[in-house]
Amino acid sequence: MPDDFAQPLSAADVSEYERNGLLLREKDILTEGEIQNLLAVIPEVLDTRGPEVVLERDGETVRSVYGVHRTFPAVRDLVVHPKLIGAVRQILGGDIYVHQSKINIKAAFSGDQWEWHQDYINWLRADGIPRPSLINVAIFLDEATEFNGPLMFIPGSQRMGLLPGADRAGMPASYEDAPSWVDTLTADEKFKVDRDTIRTLAEKDGLFSAKGGAGSALFFHSNILHASLPNISPFDRKVLILVYNLVDNAPGDVDTPRPDFLAERSPVALVPRNGEEVTHE
Ligand code: SIN
Ligand code: MN
Repeated sequence: MPDDFAQPLSAADVSEYERNGLLLREKDILTEGEIQNLLAVIPEVLDTRGPEVVLERDGETVRSVYGVHRTFPAVRDLVVHPKLIGAVRQILGGDIYVHQSKINIKAAFSGDQWEWHQDYINWLRADGIPRPSLINVAIFLDEATEFNGPLMFIPGSQRMGLLPGADRAGMPASYEDAPSWVDTLTADEKFKVDRDTIRTLAEKDGLFSAKGGAGSALFFHSNILHASLPNISPFDRKVLILVYNLVDNAPGDVDTPRPDFLAERSPVALVPRNGEEVTHE
């Protein structure tokens, strides 16, 4: 039997991840208390002001808050949760650190889309990360349903490597005066994956919609094609995303390094904390 903390995934889970580029675990990664600890931080997250906050095109609604594992103790503790570290190590097979973290709000009525994209192209170009061995761990902070813009994927597309496409010229509309690093964080993706390629892959392998209750953990590959629709439902669809990377796949030299709330440039191997729940006042 695998150790529940150090090896929370079965061999079948790991093969599913390798085949599909994603794995959804709805119940058994976080406890109810751990989920409540995270949810308790949300009002403070929404009050954050500063460069780590990206707004929607309306200039008002918070779209994302970056670097949350550096700012909020509840997220910092989650990063070293033994089951998360155990699962990511089972998949990546080495020492890991968190390269980036964010909470995407996808607010009721006004949370905007995420166009089809692969994450790795940004981590390669902006941070000089040599290989696509990064993994997103998305922790659902609300129930994700068919109504509130759940993440959708083309299973297996990560095996195609970086797909063809072209760059949008200039900054996205409504963000003309934003700092250059905002370019890849808006509803209008910088690198547009070729639509015929998306259609061909989706016709062959179908789409997967990642629905599940608050506390679900979704692991997905940095090269899997994914997107999500705008949220016109009356329910938020908040998600915390931790991006783990191998320490030996650290960022290389780039002309303009991104701020540290977007990219960790001095990785230190994470050590899992014990499996006890941490309480936050
Ligand atoms: C989303 O929150 O719907 C998209 C997140 C991502 O592309 O990483
Ligand atoms: Mn993405």
